[in-house]
Formats: sequence, structure tokens, C-alpha cells
Amino acid sequence: MDETCNVLVIDDEAVIREGLRQTLVQEGYRVELAANGKIGLDKLQKDSFDIVISDLKMPTMHGIEVLKTIRILQPEIPVIIITGYATVDSAVDAMKNGAFDYLTKPFLPEQIVEKIQAAEKHRAARLTELPQGIDKVEIPACGSFVGRSKPMQKVFQRLLQVAPTNSTVLITGESGTGKELAARAIHNHSQRKEQPFVAVDCNALAENLLESELFGHVKGSFTGATQTKPGLFSVASGGTLFLDEISNLSMTTQAKLLRVLQQREVTPIGGTKATAIDIRLIAATNRSLEIMVEAGTFRDDLYFRLNIIPVELPPLRERPGDAAVLINHFVRKFSEEIGKEIKGITPEARISLENYSFPGNVRELENIIERAVVLAQGEQICRGDLELPGAADDDEEEINIPLNSEELKEKKRLARERAVEPVEKAFVFAALERNNWNVTKAAEETGMLRPNFQAMLKKLGVSVKNHSAS
Ligand SMILES: Nc1ncnc2c1ncn2[C@@H]1O[C@H](COP(=O)(O)OP(=O)(O)OP(=O)(O)O)[C@@H](O)[C@H]1O
Ligand SMILES: [Mg+2]
Repeated sequence: MDETCNVLVIDDEAVIREGLRQTLVQEGYRVELAANGKIGLDKLQKDSFDIVISDLKMPTMHGIEVLKTIRILQPEIPVIIITGYATVDSAVDAMKNGAFDYLTKPFLPEQIVEKIQAAEKHRAARLTELPQGIDKVEIPACGSFVGRSKPMQKVFQRLLQVAPTNSTVLITGESGTGKELAARAIHNHSQRKEQPFVAVDCNALAENLLESELFGHVKGSFTGATQTKPGLFSVASGGTLFLDEISNLSMTTQAKLLRVLQQREVTPIGGTKATAIDIRLIAATNRSLEIMVEAGTFRDDLYFRLNIIPVELPPLRERPGDAAVLINHFVRKFSEEIGKEIKGITPEARISLENYSFPGNVRELENIIERAVVLAQGEQICRGDLELPGAADDDEEEINIPLNSEELKEKKRLARERAVEPVEKAFVFAALERNNWNVTKAAEETGMLRPNFQAMLKKLGVSVKNHSAS
């Protein structure tokens, strides 16, 4: 053993913990102790451990729960279960849930050392045979989740590990990092995939509306409740409920949500009858709930209930190599969708993209490529098609022109505009044609805001009036 092996011991009995520490330290192991499952799992996420020893019967969190969670969070760590009750059932249960081995109390020091040595060998063997990088997770009906960077491979692995379970997942990450995509990936790889995936944007609704949306209401329970309406907890029954932007829940709604989750049943507003809920919950946030808990604006008990399996999506700038595969992915996607034969992207364009910081993360990259595919006039996307914010106007052939002249700049802008005009025109005409010259629908289809779409029409001198009657 050239590196010290780190062992985490989770047991509610101080005597056992201390006894194990003494034995293991004597044998040259580094040992951390945790008095319950929650503390143990917390330590597991902060430090790196090679082996976990956990008691089975503990007050706050049963050993099987601890075991199951470790299997999802860090499947490569062998878990040895120790139990004070030599029941066949509990041992079988532990093994069925992926324990590496088990031991009944009382045991001799050499017995536990033997098990740990076996676990070490097992772990070493597993590490070498671990599947080589997953660089993509297919999400039927919503494309694929791509990335080849180390952090994203970890994310993919975790998504696939957690998908078949019913565990609550908390997805965090900056805007545009793929939180919703991650939630869909979990749903589509779970046994609930044939059942509904219901996404609720906690941002979009006023507090009173949100509660009636979530929990439902009975007719006449408040002004405007003209019909009895089932809540989204019922609509999502059997499937997955995705609470997006959960940090925006008010304290009152947080309390109500917590009660529903604790009791696993929901009572509609104005109703008296509670119905049991059967949903898998996934929550997402781009703000740190941990900080909000400290600030007192998010309930800690709700946070603990949501943060069973954390999935953190790193910003795109921290995923080396991902921009390159995402560029290829989106070029292919949009040339197919738009029906243009774009074969790729010029090296200069690729370099400027790879040097860009993407504050809007993958969503921003996606939008840039979509626009570039629309604008591109050749088979390749050029740097000019990218229109990166803040990019200098430094096209190769123009690099020597004195740029301090406003006139020149304006000329250049006009030239570019003239070059893209026919393409833009074809683009808006096609969108309008497909949508019967309905501006709202055409804007929606192209993913543009209506005012922006209208501004584009105006700039291009396209009049909708002559067509709308036909
Ligand atoms: N790794 C990826 N591979 C392919 N497409 C991706 C990837 N990550 C994100 N996308 C795409 O980028 C867009 C933004 O992703 P998504 O909506 O999941 O982000 P988000 O984190 O929920 O953002 P927000 O916080 O703004 O709601 C979507 O169109 C999604 O399909
Ligand atoms: Mg989102």
C-alpha cells in the first residue's frame, strides 16, 4: 500500500467507533468517524474515502439508506456493513443493496482488518476495469446531452446511476448549463419514463397561483376558482415532478411543500381530503441554497430533504474540451433542422469560440451556432457568422484599415448587413410562409421574441400586411 487508505466509519455507538479507530490506525489506515448517516454522507462528499464501514441500525438514518446513497454518489467505494443483530434478513438486505460485505457484532479486530483488506483489493480491481468515459447521454425525444470533459463524465455517470432509483435530486448550476436537460435525462432513464414529466417554473408564477398550481384547488375556494382543478402533484402522479428555480419559493410555500413531502400526501386548497402522492422529485436552482439557508431565506429542513443526491453542472468555461464537441453537435443539429448543408466551421471561427467565456453557458453557445448556421453563406461557418458579443471587428483583410474612422466602421457594418440581408430575408420569409404570415407564430417557431422578430422585419423592409389577408 503506497498511499494511505482512507476509511470512513459511521456508527452511532461511540464505543464501536473508537474501537474501530484504534484497530485501524494501528494497521496504518487513516480513519474518520461519523456518529450518524447524515454526518457520514456529508464527510463523504467533502473528502475522498476509499472504504466505508457503516452500522445498520442507527436512529436518524438507517444503514441501508446510507448504503444506497453511497452506491449512487460514489459507486466505486466498497461499503462494509456491521450489524448488532445477526439476522439473516438484514445481511441479505445489505448485500442485495450492494454492500461489499458484512460483519456481525461483536467481532475481533483481525476480522474487520481482513474484510478491509479484501475491500481494498476489490476497489483496486474495479478502478482499473471501470468503463471508459461516457461522452454522451441520449435522451429520447429531446436529443442528447454531450460533453467529454472529466466533470461532465462524472455528471453523466451520476445521472445514469441515480435515474433508476426514486431518490430526490437537486441540480445546481449557472443559467444555461443544462439543468433541465439533466432532469429530463434522469426521467427518461427511469422506470417512470412512460409517465409524465411535469416541469414547474417556480419563477413564473405568483405565490398564491403557485400553490394552487402545485396542490390544486376545489371550486369556490378563492375568487377565480370557478372549477375544481387538480394540482401538478396529481398531474405528475406516477412520473417526475421537476421544480425549476426552487430558490424562488416563498417561506410559506416552502413550509407547505415540506409538509407535502414529509407526509407524502397533498390536500388541494379549500379541500379536506388528502391524496397520497406518487412522484419522483427533481429540483433545480442557479442560486446556492446553502447560502440561502445561512441567510435564513431557505428552510434548512427543506434543503436537506431536497439535497439527497446533488448534481452540480459546472459552467461551460470549466469544462475543457466540451465547447469543441458541443460546436460539432449544434452545427449538425441546426444544419439538419434549418435544411442547410453546413459541413463545419473554419479554424479561425473555432479559435474565437474556444477563447470566448460563454457567460450564458451552453444555451449561449447553442444560440450562437444556430444564428451562425442561418447566416452562413458557404459550407463553413466563418468568424463573421458568429457575431460574438464584444468581439473586435478584425476580419483578416481589414486588419490594416485605420479603425479610428467612424465612417469606415459604418461602411463595414453596412457591407456586412448587405451580405447577410438575403439570407435573413429568406429566413423570415420561410418562417412567415410556414406560419401563414402570422408574426407571433413565426417568431415563436424561430425562437425569437416577437418584438425582435418585428424589428428584423422592419429592417429588411418586409411587410406582413399584404399577406395576412391571403
Ligand atoms: N451538454 C449539453 N449537450 C447538448 N445540449 C445542451 C447541453 N447542455 C445544455 N444544452 C442545451 O442548452 C440549452 C439550455 O439548457 P437547459 O435549459 O437545460 O439549461 P438550464 O441550466 O436549465 O438553464 P436556466 O438556468 O437558464 O434555466 C438547452 O437548449 C439544452 O438543450
Ligand atoms: Mg432551466
